[in-house]
Amino acid sequence: MEPWILSGKISSQAREYGKTLCVPGARIVDIADKVEQKIIALGGKPAFPVDISLNTMAAHYCPFVDDPVIVQKGDLLKLDLGTHIEGHVTDTAVTIEVGGVDKYKKMREAVTAALKAAIDVVSPGVQVGKIGAAVEEVITGYGYNPIRNLCGHGVGLWEVHTKPTIPNYDNKDPTKLTEGQRIAIEPFVTDGEGMIKEGKPSGIYALINPKPVRLDGARKMIQHIMKEWKTLPFTVRWLKQFPNYQFLLNYLEKEQVISQYGQLPEKSGGLVTQEEHTIMVGTGVLTK
Ligand code: CO
Repeated sequence: MEPWILSGKISSQAREYGKTLCVPGARIVDIADKVEQKIIALGGKPAFPVDISLNTMAAHYCPFVDDPVIVQKGDLLKLDLGTHIEGHVTDTAVTIEVGGVDKYKKMREAVTAALKAAIDVVSPGVQVGKIGAAVEEVITGYGYNPIRNLCGHGVGLWEVHTKPTIPNYDNKDPTKLTEGQRIAIEPFVTDGEGMIKEGKPSGIYALINPKPVRLDGARKMIQHIMKEWKTLPFTVRWLKQFPNYQFLLNYLEKEQVISQYGQLPEKSGGLVTQEEHTIMVGTGVLTK
């Protein structure tokens, strides 16, 4: 099967499997481990560590080693995951209201409708600002705000975030979609003001400059990162076999060999829903 297609199918199956794990009492670190193992069992590799962001956390909450957070009934849980097949990246996300609760059903429906409206606009030659306009119109129609400083993005070979930027509001960007381009569209809906701020360190890292370093253990860690993930994001949970892993990661971050992403909470403390699909322009949704 064509690698983009296969990557999308695996992301989709891993997402559907992950949804079944998001039940009251589950540990988020166990959900993340199991979804990543599922991606591997299906013949792919995680394109980035599974993120499980609860309630007012919009994105980039990646369970830490032995993370004590347990899913509670009523949590608004965003499960965001990606697969790559030899670097062919697909990215998908879904929101679950844990335990069959429907308190925020309207906010979940708003994001589903916004993503559908955005996908309906996609076609070669369409300006990306028009996708943002479609997202914004649906979300404001439901009485909520889109998160304006979180965007969809192109996905590429060994790249989770590449051009073009796909806005979640009408930013008038005239950049046109091209046939065969892969884009991830990910609207975020909130009952807050519609902005995220940079939160605490997430434990998600990416290699930025693999230069020689003094510490032997750190050199070994760089070699491991380059072999396993190249420039794709990775997390502390994937490096726990290294003695002193946190010390080495801190050292590599200080040496600017790797950089760390921050968690992304909604600025005003609003609740957040999100959905995401990867689309091949002119072909259709890869992560259906
Ligand atoms: Co994405």
